[in-house]
Amino acid sequence: MTFDETALREYFSDAPDDIALDDVDLTRIPRHVSFIMDGNGRWAQSRGLDRSKGHIAGVDSLRETVTTSVRLGLDALSCYAFSTENWKRPQREVNLLMHLFATTLMKEMPLFHQENVRLRFLGDLEALPKETREVFFRGLDETSDHTGMTFALAVNYGSRSEIVRAARNLAANAAMGNLSPDEIDEELFSANLYTAGIPDPDLLIRTSGEMRLSNYLLWQLAYTEFYVTDLYWPDFSRWEFLRAVRSYQSRDRRFGGVKAK
Ligand code: FPP
Repeated sequence: MTFDETALREYFSDAPDDIALDDVDLTRIPRHVSFIMDGNGRWAQSRGLDRSKGHIAGVDSLRETVTTSVRLGLDALSCYAFSTENWKRPQREVNLLMHLFATTLMKEMPLFHQENVRLRFLGDLEALPKETREVFFRGLDETSDHTGMTFALAVNYGSRSEIVRAARNLAANAAMGNLSPDEIDEELFSANLYTAGIPDPDLLIRTSGEMRLSNYLLWQLAYTEFYVTDLYWPDFSRWEFLRAVRSYQSRDRRFGGVKAK
């Protein structure tokens, strides 16, 4: 993906002391960056606010993250918004999140049009409330001919169930005689995951300090570099994004091989 360097420099003017756009190599920007957006509740609680306020503040960070990703010229951005385990939260919080997903998506459609962003969803959308599902399908439809960055939002997503679903699809095809088990390879398996057609993430960023994967993209993260920041999601900004890219660029990615001389 290409980027507009003038818009990029303008976007990253007013830098803090420790990081600036010149600290990253614009020729080695990761293609796909994925996020575990964590810490909305703690952000709110640390301010004596209701957890819901943290989710509402999290929307601003998400919008900034989409814009930063477009400015940097990523091919894909993915974000974990709601896991298959998150249904266990209090009903009031689940309802708020589902409503927030729908209203935010509707509100941000002009941004997706303006920036040529193509929407995708990772997860089982059938279980979502009708309002949310309908807005998601409209978003998919309205951005399907966009040719810019892919923005994949994981909602009602669980990686193990995604893998089981892929195995079941392949087994059903084999049982029907449409596929021989020998034809099942990594490429075909990947094509049966929710992320079909999206390159694996180069960089995973998790906020609020937790060192775990939480059932997120277990297959796709096989060779991904991780960056964990202590910042809560509502405090995540374009500058922390740049720090993560700088850290990523300092790594030696060998993919199981040895360092190139
Ligand atoms: C994690 O914080 C965040 C979530 C489970 C929800 C993610 C939602 C947003 C970032 C809001 C905007 C998203 C969209 C798609 C409009 P947490 O509640 O687990 O925080 P905690 O670990 O501190 O309790």
